[in-house]
Amino acid sequence: MEIIIRPNAAAAAELAARIIAKELQANPHLVLGLATGRTMESVYRLLVEQHRREHRDFSLCRTFNLDEYVGLSGDDPRSYRHYMNRHLFDQVNIDLRNTHLPDGRAADLDAECARYEQLIAKTGGIDLQLLGLGQAGHIGFNEPLSALKSRTRVKALTPATLAQNAAFFGGADQVPRRAITMGVGTILEGRRCLLLATGEAKADIVARAVEGPITSMISATALQLHSRCTVVVDEAAASRLQGTEYYRWIFAHEPEWAEFAQP
Ligand code: GLP
Repeated sequence: MEIIIRPNAAAAAELAARIIAKELQANPHLVLGLATGRTMESVYRLLVEQHRREHRDFSLCRTFNLDEYVGLSGDDPRSYRHYMNRHLFDQVNIDLRNTHLPDGRAADLDAECARYEQLIAKTGGIDLQLLGLGQAGHIGFNEPLSALKSRTRVKALTPATLAQNAAFFGGADQVPRRAITMGVGTILEGRRCLLLATGEAKADIVARAVEGPITSMISATALQLHSRCTVVVDEAAASRLQGTEYYRWIFAHEPEWAEFAQP
């Protein structure tokens, strides 16, 4: 795991967007795993800017989102399909047919989960998986006790997650109770993971996810098992980490990061 600490949320999002851009430039056929949430909005804004200013090309790239609420159609402004179209897909030259999210309205949800897994495999697997961090430490919607080998499936959302997403639905009681999410095992199969977390509210869970023991109670801790995981945080989210001196030293001295250390 590599931990990169940026001065503020904007700089953290910028670094994440630059990592994505570099991967896309190296491989136009990149299979991108995407995430939703407030944190990701600035990353998508930067990718849209790159597309407009630097002609960043998304025409050949394929995407798979982590999760979708059960019961919401893609037209519903609260669905993750709608979020992705609004924040990214409708604003860049991506072919919508190459963008995938689980179908939360499928008649047979278990069959839909199996179809999603098969589609990821058929596409050759995910090259770069972008991840946010829920306040209780979930990645995707892998709530506490999600098996570390879990696959795409339906999960019941915890009261904490319902509360975290209440604002988008006009109250916690309006948030769908279930979601389809890639499993922890599915996520760990991505060739590279990039987790972005910013703000003081994430400081405690970032420290537990990165430096704490691996536990299915906090699915993000499973990323410690991944051979290529980059965690980008701002100073506020890094404030409870123990090893910051070492993480800063690595970022400043590893040749791989030299180009990213420049503003
Ligand atoms: C939701 C998503 C997660 C995301 C999390 C963080 O729970 N399902 O994938 O990581 O929100 O959201 P935010 O960036 O708004 O803190």
